[in-house]
Amino acid sequence: MPLAQMAEAVLRTADGREKTARSRAFAEEWQTARAAGRTLEIGEASPPLHLARPARPELLSPRDVPRRKPGTVEGRIALLHAVAHIELNAVDLHWDIIARFADVKMPLGFYDDWVKAADEESKHFNLMCDCLEVLGSHYGALPAHAGMWRAAEDTAEDLMGRLAVVPMVLEARGLDVTPGMIEIFRKAKAPQAVEALETIYAEEVAHVAYGSKWFHFLCGRHDEDPKERFHALVRRYFHGALKPPFNEEKRAEAGIPPDFYWPLTATG
Ligand SMILES: [Fe+2]
Ligand SMILES: [Fe+2]
Repeated sequence: MPLAQMAEAVLRTADGREKTARSRAFAEEWQTARAAGRTLEIGEASPPLHLARPARPELLSPRDVPRRKPGTVEGRIALLHAVAHIELNAVDLHWDIIARFADVKMPLGFYDDWVKAADEESKHFNLMCDCLEVLGSHYGALPAHAGMWRAAEDTAEDLMGRLAVVPMVLEARGLDVTPGMIEIFRKAKAPQAVEALETIYAEEVAHVAYGSKWFHFLCGRHDEDPKERFHALVRRYFHGALKPPFNEEKRAEAGIPPDFYWPLTATG
């Protein structure tokens, strides 16, 4: 099956565990072929603009999702549930960039990177589900944000906009907030969650770096100034200002310099 059709098949799978199982199997197929010196066809697909989603969780507008108090078990379950939801959306976002923009000619490394990222997001979702299940809960037990797919819809026609908003803004935000989450679970003496979140934190740096790499590649192709283009695209597609404090160290590691994000804060 061509890669773009594998991507579409993942997008059209509603159940979380089923989606991640397909995602990981397709990633292995791609990677095994690449390791053997073969390349699967990229092909083309018709990815759905509205995702297949399980009946649960109930999706609510962000302001209607109950606030969580991390000092309680319920609060920590809510936190893990929110991360599981983010990871599941990330699986779809990474496959969607492959399917949606299959008509844009890109080097093979572009597909290697997003297949790897999608595989890792699938693992992250499963890790969060395992942590929830140990605490007697599961993905779908609580309401979740409805807005997470909006970035994909808004940038469905614009690959550079997609790279600017998804890996370079949303996933970079993950680098800012994950250390605080790890601290919450360390204090609660929950080693399984600490370990899972540390895996997520370590692997997300590369996803942000893939975003920066391919964004700069396309700026080179179109002879555009990366910083100016980034600012214009985020202002166009991202709703609201970027929020400090920023994890400057990990952002730098991922190839996002301060003059990319500081001018996009409320005071920048
Ligand atoms: Fe992730
Ligand atoms: Fe990611």
